[in-house]
This record gives sequence, C-alpha cells and structure tokens, in this order.
Amino acid sequence: MIKLAKKYDLKVPRYTSYPTTPHFSDAVDGETYKGWLAELDPAQALSLYFHIPFCDEMCWFCGCYTKIVARYDPIAAYMETLLKEVDLAADALPGKYRARHLHWGGGSPTMLTPDDWRRLIDRLRSRFDVTDDAEIAVELDPRETTEDYVKGLANASVNRASIGVQDFNPEVQQAINRIQPFEVTKQVFAWLRQNGITGINMDLMYGLPYQTIARVIDMVDKAVSLEPRRIAIFGYAHVPWMKEHQKMIKEQTLPDVEERWEQSEAASKRLEELGYIRIGFDHFARPDDSLASALKGGSLHRNFQGYTADKASALIGFGASAIGSLPQGYVQNFLPTKQYTDLVEAGALPIAKGIVTGSEDILRREIIERLMCDMEVDIDTVCAHHQVEADHFSEELNRLSPYVDDDICRIDGGKIFVSENARPFVRLIAATFDRYLNTKEGRHSSAV
Ligand SMILES: C[S@@+](CC[C@H](N)C(=O)[O-])C[C@H]1O[C@@H](n2cnc3c(N)ncnc32)[C@H](O)[C@@H]1O
Ligand code: SF4
Repeated sequence: MIKLAKKYDLKVPRYTSYPTTPHFSDAVDGETYKGWLAELDPAQALSLYFHIPFCDEMCWFCGCYTKIVARYDPIAAYMETLLKEVDLAADALPGKYRARHLHWGGGSPTMLTPDDWRRLIDRLRSRFDVTDDAEIAVELDPRETTEDYVKGLANASVNRASIGVQDFNPEVQQAINRIQPFEVTKQVFAWLRQNGITGINMDLMYGLPYQTIARVIDMVDKAVSLEPRRIAIFGYAHVPWMKEHQKMIKEQTLPDVEERWEQSEAASKRLEELGYIRIGFDHFARPDDSLASALKGGSLHRNFQGYTADKASALIGFGASAIGSLPQGYVQNFLPTKQYTDLVEAGALPIAKGIVTGSEDILRREIIERLMCDMEVDIDTVCAHHQVEADHFSEELNRLSPYVDDDICRIDGGKIFVSENARPFVRLIAATFDRYLNTKEGRHSSAV
C-alpha cells in the first residue's frame, strides 16, 4: 500500500458535505434560507453549530477560519451579533424547535468569557427547546483554560469537550508555534472530569514537521494515558497558497507522502492495540462511546465537524463562515466578519452562498457518506431506496477498476468494500461518485 500512497497522491475533498463547498453559489441567499427554515419539520430535533473565529496566537499549521485578537472588544461585539443571528433564525422558524446537539467550533470558542457563555446559552434556551439529553460540545484550547473557566463551562451545561493537542513532542510543538506541555493537557483533563464533563475528545495530527514514526507512537501512548473517549488523528493539510501563515513551516521539515502513510498506519495500529475502535479514516473511539455504537448500528454520519452520531436532518450554523445543512440544501454564512455583522445588524440572514440539493445529489451523497463512514456500500440497496435503476452507477463502477487491481477496494455484485489496509484511500473511492469533481479545478489536500 505504501507505494500506492505515492501513485495515488491525488488531491480530493474530505467529503464533510456533498456537494462540497467549492460548488456553492450565490444563487442561494438569505431569502432562500428563510424559506427553507420556514418549511422545517417541527417534529425533528435540530443541531446547532456556532463558529467563534478568534484565537490568541496563530498556530502555523492552522487550516481553520480564525483571526488573532489582542483585546476582547471585537469578541464582545461579535457576541452581540451572534445573539441577534440566533433571534433572526429563530424568528424564521414557525415555532420553538427542539435542539439536541449544540457544537461550538473555531477558532477557539474558549476565547469567550464565562459570562458570555451563560448569555448565549440562556438565549438559546429561550429561543429553542434544548432537550435534557442534549449534547453540548465545545472545542477547547487547553493553553488558555483555567479551573474557573471549566467550572463556567460546566455551569453553562457543556458536557463534551474536544481538546486540541496535535503532538506532545517539544521539537514538533516549536516548529508549529504551539507550546503546550503534557502537564497542561493532563491538568485540563482532570478539571473537566472533576466538573462532570466526561465526554472528552482529543485532536492529534500526523504529517507535521519533525514527526517520525517513533514520535507518533509516543504521541499516541501519551494521549491514551489520559483516556480520552475519542481521538481524531488528522493528516496535516499543507495549503500555504490558501493559508499564508503555513509558509512559516519549512517544507523540508515535513514528512513525504510515504512517511505520512507510515505515520498514519503506525498511529492507527497502536490505537487499535490499545483498545480503540477505528472510525472512518481519521477517528478512534472507546468501544463504549456513542461513535463506536453508531458505527456498529450502521448510523454513523459525517458532517462539517467530521464523524458524528448526530442523526439530525437539519443543522443550523451561526457565526461568520458557519455552514448549515437542511433537507433542501446547504448554506454558508459570509466569511469576513464585517459583511457577516453588517447583514445581521440590518436584520438579514447573513448567507453568502449555498446549493440546492437535487435528488441526484441526495442519492450520491448517501453513497459517499456510507463509503466514508462504513468503508463499504451496497449500491443496489441505495439505488432501490432512491427508486433508480441498479445500473445507474455502472460507469462509476467501471472507473473503480484501477483501485480494484491495486487491492484498494473490492466489488462484489453491487457492493463496494474498501480494503482494511487502504482506509486512507476512501476519499478516492468516494470521489468516483462525485459528479462535480474536476481535478483541474480547485486544490484540495492529499488523500493520505
Ligand atoms: C478549531 S481547532 C481546535 C480548537 C482550538 N482552536 C485548538 O486548537 O485547541 C480544530 C482542529 O483542527 C485540526 N487542524 C487545524 N488545522 C489543520 C490542518 N491544517 N490540517 C489538519 N488538521 C488541522 C487540529 O487538530 C485542531 O485541533
Ligand atoms: S489550531 Fe486552534 S488555537 Fe491554533 S490557530 Fe487554529 S484554531 Fe487557533
């Protein structure tokens, strides 16, 4: 497989949505979205996502949409806009809808003060019926977390935290401008548990400067010693043409595609030896975690936050750049905070672009999602479910033959199985079913 990593170093999407964001257009705007919200089924519980695009200091590997702020004023102003946006979306819904999954991402949501957390959660509770069993999850940067802060999160009913680590090795940390001693992470784990926040995830990365196989295994061992319920291991996406600060990472310090493959495999093998269940191509969960149960039950999903057990048919995004997913299609808010703020202050839903999902998109999305989640898909069953002929995808199945020849996948009747040792290639198999993909247009990160 390692030789194939070089052969197939194609740039393909990560399929956190289908169609993917480069295919969104301004034909979908705030008025379209308003109509979609008005049509939502009140019987279905919603998921809510909040984007907080602020950080203290830039990590040089960072691919997220964020900006560095030295004062709280811009965050305080953003918070006021966010509260107004919650009202705008809630006003467009024909009733008080249930919300069962709430997720704060960024940037660093932990830039918000505990008081602002409380205000936002209070506003949400007044405009949505947040269920008693709701998952309230926050991406948390341990470097800026104190015990009082964790208490504030617990008081605001947060019950899941995703902790950014990346790697514990000091030389790697230096090269990515993110100094975070092991003891700091360990202390935050203890505070979270003491305050009842027991759903703890950890983000790690491979493919970073100066990482080696031995260091990646050491990173995994240190991570597991803290017993997180879930671990995500992301392959570093080096896209300096899009993220200027990534130019601070010297390319000669980065592992090549074969080394990346070996690091990813070494980390996965070690995590499985230590009792974690492999979820998709970059997540791992303890067997008693809801992500592992969802995988077992065939109900694992993929959304903008990665793999999820969240089954909601509508995800409403708030904040600059946030993406929403509704039965009718996808929408994305304006990225520049100024445009986002001006629209909300003028009383408009701040949608920059989106896409209507037609029946062909929904059919292909199901195939892509099942492949990305289960590493297999029964094309005949999906086609029957969508009432299309079983030979609808005969051309795509033919196009898979180079991957079949290379043992990346196997086709048996109408079923496609991704080989266990070829999981990182699943994006390539999924891309075969992407009817928008034109490899000449747009640049994505490496599949491996
Ligand atoms: C929004 S950050 C997490 C919260 C917080 N800002 C922090 O860093 O602790 C989300 C995660 O995305 C991952 N990530 C960021 N940039 C990436 C890149 N260029 N390639 C792959 N993963 C990346 C990191 O693992 C990071 O923890
Ligand atoms: S990785 Fe997290 S803390 Fe670092 S710059 Fe990106 S969003 Fe901010």
